[in-house]
Amino acid sequence: MSVVSYQLEGDIGVIRLNNPPVNALSHALRSGIQDAVTQAQDDASLALVLMCEGRTFIAGADISEFGKPPMLPSLPELLIVLEASKKPIIAAIHGTALGGGLETALACHYRCALPSAQVGLPEVKLGLLPGAGGTQRVPRLTGVKAALDLMTTGAPIAAAQALNIGLIDKVVEGDLLSAALDFANEVIEQGAELKRVRDLEVDKTATSAEYFAELFTDYRKTLSKRFRGQEAPHRIVECIEAALNTPFDEGLKVERRLFVECMQSPQSWALQHMFFAQRMSSKVKGLPKDTQLKDIKRVGIIGGGLMGGGIAMNFVNVGISVTLLEISQEALQRGKDLIAKNYAMTVSKGKLTVELATQRQDMITGTTDYHDLADMDLVIEAVFENLDIKKQVFAKLDNVCKQGAILASNTSYQDVNLIAQSTSRPQDVIGLHFFSPANVMKLLEIVRGDETSNEVVATSMAIAKSIKKVPALSRVCYGFIGNRMLRHYAREAQLCLLEGSTPQDIDAVMQNFGMAMGPLAVGDLAGIDIGYKAREGLTDEQKGDVRTYCIADALYEMGRLGQKTGAGYYQYDPDTRQRSVDPVVLEVIEAQAKKMGVERKVISDKTILERLTFALINEGFKILEEGIAQRPSDIDVVYAFGYGFPAYRGGPMFYADTIGLEKIYHTVCEFADTYGEEFWQPAALLKQLVEEGKTLTQWANS
Ligand code: 3HC
Repeated sequence: MSVVSYQLEGDIGVIRLNNPPVNALSHALRSGIQDAVTQAQDDASLALVLMCEGRTFIAGADISEFGKPPMLPSLPELLIVLEASKKPIIAAIHGTALGGGLETALACHYRCALPSAQVGLPEVKLGLLPGAGGTQRVPRLTGVKAALDLMTTGAPIAAAQALNIGLIDKVVEGDLLSAALDFANEVIEQGAELKRVRDLEVDKTATSAEYFAELFTDYRKTLSKRFRGQEAPHRIVECIEAALNTPFDEGLKVERRLFVECMQSPQSWALQHMFFAQRMSSKVKGLPKDTQLKDIKRVGIIGGGLMGGGIAMNFVNVGISVTLLEISQEALQRGKDLIAKNYAMTVSKGKLTVELATQRQDMITGTTDYHDLADMDLVIEAVFENLDIKKQVFAKLDNVCKQGAILASNTSYQDVNLIAQSTSRPQDVIGLHFFSPANVMKLLEIVRGDETSNEVVATSMAIAKSIKKVPALSRVCYGFIGNRMLRHYAREAQLCLLEGSTPQDIDAVMQNFGMAMGPLAVGDLAGIDIGYKAREGLTDEQKGDVRTYCIADALYEMGRLGQKTGAGYYQYDPDTRQRSVDPVVLEVIEAQAKKMGVERKVISDKTILERLTFALINEGFKILEEGIAQRPSDIDVVYAFGYGFPAYRGGPMFYADTIGLEKIYHTVCEFADTYGEEFWQPAALLKQLVEEGKTLTQWANS
């Protein structure tokens, strides 16, 4: 079936696009539209309607064509043809008109949309800028400020708001085709005027050159903070400045030059990789297509602490009621108060109404009786991180829960197979590892036990989608994908401290690299007691080399547990939580170094960066060779969505390819010589790929 069809409906020519799933502007679509518009110039039509079949209007350029040899017509060329049409073209929008999709609509002469439609320019999320005239046309319709907001956030807006700021001409109700035909007839009756956005001037009334100069300066400052290290938002500002200060065609030239620059940047390649990685991570290798999904209508959560409460919020936020179990009424009340506090915060930020917040909390029923979980479709255990306690909880669940219920553990480390064995139904047991704060963090690590059924895995993937999480599948090992890798990263942070760095040296290096926070600041946020208590349950062998935790233990023993006690690796202002350097910490570090017989020396920023990131990467390779992760891009998803790794570097495994595996392998070997083989053994897969001269991406695609 052709992706573009053209048909006369009375006096109106209707161009229909049909390129599922999202009508991305592939080459076939672009040439089909060009042919249809060309054909329409000489037929009996008086106006044209451009609309899409399926679930959405055009959702943008076809990202899978990026980086491949260009095929004509390019999108900018096609849009010249559209805009130059001698018959008015009306874009009729439903679903999401995004990126090149919205730009296509802006090159039409009129735009109408259903109330449910959304429009946006999300290119910035791909490290790009709108490259088909969007940066020049949008400010001509909306003014500079709204254009800056739309393009630098990349967030879509609803049809009503699009109408409000002048991006579309009309919101239409009912059947889109009939409404668009009516609109086209109105346009014809009023003389079929060709309203070309390029002919408009950017609105400068009541504003001065100084106003705009200040506006652009303010935006640049804000963007530098909000998108630390990223280039595309700044290039967008440049384009909008060009729209304000130069004629349309000159502005287009600036846009083209900067678009090509962004397209050729490693940041954009990384973000494009993340786009597909995020979508790929929900696909489970070897899962039969006809795998049945379980219906999840009622969810039980055990434990009303920070984690359990956050998990509960995810479900009620999407209309799934929750039964929250705690050991006592007091504990239950504490849990409910915590949830209420969280909702109050969301309300105070204006992100939720008081009514909705109350409605959601009303969907949480508290209990102290396991029998109240009997009818649950899914139960998630979020109790203390201790294997024996978890096993006891699962044995109880096995007794009370209905057959077929999914029994999930929110464990971050424990062996899901052992937990499953404490029930008579290991096929129904799975790990659902949320990240704190669970109502905010996007990642959901789904841990498949040896006996977990396909049905339970597939349903867990569907649950992730329904509660708007990004899932990544892991097999069982200590710490799964994320925390297992993190141990090696944290180990190097501790060793660098002992051998010569300060917390602020290490955190600055990692933050400049793009991590949301440095590892020591994270330690203070999470609490130094967490690691200490986790180590308490381990044998000396499991704890590993004492040099990797002696500083943390010393701080713990001084009662410096991190932000919650006002001091940890840093000290914290009790009111603002602003952190500052505490000279006592250096004394602690130096004392520990002396005790361990380590002579402290200056460690360069480059070495700090390589030790921390290569430790992550090397372990990532081991996770792949053992089959713990399905694919490298799933590891990238885990790190970008769960650990604050900069998405514009593509996650640790994509980053490894950009550095070059050979460089990483040789550095890891050098580190083994310098810092000891007990810490550094190159992964067999890393060595193998270097010998074969392959990249990790090539390996994953083979
Ligand atoms: N190009 C290629 N494939 C795309 C695509 C695009 N622009 N947008 C979505 N897809 C694919 C996805 O990879 C996915 O494929 P899969 O089924 O094989 O995994 C499929 O379409 C469905 O996508 P989602 O799973 O994301 O579906 P949702 O319904 O959850 O979301 C959406 C739909 C809101 C349209 C979302 O897909 C989206 O945000 N897409 C990207 C939009 C975008 O970034 N557009 C700008 C592109 S850059 C551009 O236009 C440059 C221009 O300025 C020159």
